[in-house]
Amino acid sequence: MSKVLIIYYSLSGNTEKMAKAIEEGAKSAGATVTTKISLEATAEDFMDCDVVLFGTANYFNYMAGAVKDFFDRTWFTLKGKVDGKPYATFGSYGGGKDAAINTLNERCDQLGLKKAAESVGAQREPTPEALEECKALGSKMALM
Ligand SMILES: Cc1cc2nc3c(=O)[nH]c(=O)nc-3n(C[C@H](O)[C@H](O)[C@H](O)COP(=O)(O)O)c2cc1C
Repeated sequence: MSKVLIIYYSLSGNTEKMAKAIEEGAKSAGATVTTKISLEATAEDFMDCDVVLFGTANYFNYMAGAVKDFFDRTWFTLKGKVDGKPYATFGSYGGGKDAAINTLNERCDQLGLKKAAESVGAQREPTPEALEECKALGSKMALM
């Protein structure tokens, strides 16, 4: 059974809804899922999982400062120890579809993780269709 870690930050709840749908999808595929707000996620959580999903809202066309905080705190502990770990990203935005997600993907790539699925985005509140995409992403990552 794979261990899925979901790390996200959401101020007004849109990205959080996506995280919950991903969690549902991963659980339905049989994974053990740990979901954490980025400020509370640790390097140990990360080392312990088989696959990871990062979620961020777009704030000023960058990942949430609270998600960057995870990379800031854990970078030198994780660098060189997590090469090839599968990752995927998701998040909500206002008008700038890919800008924040791209900054997140860049950090994941630089950390040595392996992108395992296309990112899922939602403009502001995720539609039912976007939530279905999130569930499918969770299931897919659970089966890695
Ligand atoms: C401080 C702040 C800055 C934002 N900057 C951007 C931006 O540069 N580009 C964009 O597309 N959306 C921007 N937004 C809109 C949010 O990405 C959008 O409302 C999103 O749905 C929030 O997701 P959340 O509910 O997970 O926090 C910004 C929102 C806030 C609060």
